Amino acid sequence: MTSTPAKIQFDQKPAKNADTRVIFVAEDGKHGAKLSAAARDLDTKTKGAVKRALAAAEFTGKKAQFLALPGIEGAGARYVIVAGLGKAEELGALCFEKIGSALAAQLNSRKSALADVSFPEEEAKQSKLSPDAAAAHFALGALLNTYRFDKYLTREPKDKKPSLKTLHFTVKDAAKARKAFAGQQKVAEGAFLTRDLVSEVPNVLYPESFAAIIKKELAPLGIEVKVLTEKDMKKLGMGAIVAVGQGSVRQPRLVSMEYKGGKKGQRPVAFVGKGVTFDTGGISLKPGPGMEEMKWDMAGAGTVTGLMKALAARGAKVNAVGIVGLAENMPSGDAYRPGDIVTSMSGQTIEVHNTDAEGRLVLCDALWYVQQKFKPTHIVDLATLTGAMIIALGHEYAGVFSNDDALAWDLVSAGRATGEQLWYMPMCDAWDKAIDSPAADMKNISGGRDAGSAIGAHFLKRFIQDGVKWAHLDIAGVAWSNKERTGVPKGASSFGVRLLDKYVADNWE
Ligand code: BES
Ligand code: MN
Ligand code: ZN
Repeated sequence: MTSTPAKIQFDQKPAKNADTRVIFVAEDGKHGAKLSAAARDLDTKTKGAVKRALAAAEFTGKKAQFLALPGIEGAGARYVIVAGLGKAEELGALCFEKIGSALAAQLNSRKSALADVSFPEEEAKQSKLSPDAAAAHFALGALLNTYRFDKYLTREPKDKKPSLKTLHFTVKDAAKARKAFAGQQKVAEGAFLTRDLVSEVPNVLYPESFAAIIKKELAPLGIEVKVLTEKDMKKLGMGAIVAVGQGSVRQPRLVSMEYKGGKKGQRPVAFVGKGVTFDTGGISLKPGPGMEEMKWDMAGAGTVTGLMKALAARGAKVNAVGIVGLAENMPSGDAYRPGDIVTSMSGQTIEVHNTDAEGRLVLCDALWYVQQKFKPTHIVDLATLTGAMIIALGHEYAGVFSNDDALAWDLVSAGRATGEQLWYMPMCDAWDKAIDSPAADMKNISGGRDAGSAIGAHFLKRFIQDGVKWAHLDIAGVAWSNKERTGVPKGASSFGVRLLDKYVADNWE
């Protein structure tokens, strides 16, 4: 782990030594700003200072807007921060997360170490959630915002480091809020593992070290972790993933994570991740500028790992298998070449036309393996598979491709609920034909620029057995964020952890 994310507490009583008190104001169409009970109380204690400040600043309580008031007499803290809720009756889970996330950033910018949040119970009651669920979502947004990958910053001045250590929520029913938050916290911890992995640098994170981290993090949670070495993979006939890894001195690995939280004997749901720990493009070398970004070409695998951690840690009632295909795509005298024909574990042969379309080669053996070994009824794979996905959907949505509408829409709904949004993309036979090859069962690219992301999906679909429900999430545009979002500081987003945790909760538990 990197810098420790803030600690979250719930209690009936306010924190004694808080340096900052957070109170709330809702927007009220007719009467302007409407103070929460704690805000009114603080206004009385400070002889009207809160209301005077609100009026002077013309603060109307717009959602996720803040007014920071330093040095107010009678406040009992260095700072009072007034947080805007927007219209109370319009508040949903994502709104609470957004305000919580923005508040955490605000507290860090005000150098708060221990902040007390007087949770707005009345306003939460008017919202679409119960007060304890509202508080849990608020806290989740805040917690996710406090992640930071700073392990390589050795000379950073202390005042540049995040100040917030503890976020204390004063709520009416602390036990209920704690209970509502417990599961969310585990999901956040899963997301932090994903962010650590995706942020980690390629001279440190490579297939072998990745596999070791999985073992260390997940085995203690009761997950059965199995690591296949290159030798094992060769024996199983995984000619595709082995070809991708052969140009690197870092040998490939395939790791399975088996979690049995569901009914005995029930077939599992499988999550499969692309884990290219660095993608140079291989002999079809990528251009230099921006190539450092390809350290996060293992984000699919990072997400699967964090998801499995979250599911096991919160005791999800599901049988789930995570599989990650780990390889480094390098150009060298040993590297695979355009023109090579490789034999995948499925027996299907693949003519390599571009060594930079390596993700699908890694995944096709991982997909075949998971079906042979674990017999899942449903498979969801995640991959930073195509640059074309970014052209199609940008950075706000990931694409979902599927052979089953119900599965695709279940994933889309889980995405809506968590803010990790998916757009359902089409598949059609014409695109499947585009990867036919005269020399082998298929080639790994179409050769044209049309529908590049769908071509990748069709390649994968050729490795899905009849009757298995499958969805492919192309997360190339969303795995890394160049701007701050709700619960996502710049950098590794952990996109997919919350989404798939929600998908499991809604459809498997
Ligand atoms: N890892 C890349 C895709 C990618 C590009 C992810 C940019 C995130 C940001 C993938 O391995 C790749 O190189 N895909 C090729 C496929 C092409 C050769 C058919 C691409 O998108 O150019
Ligand atoms: Mn590539
Ligand atoms: Zn790649």
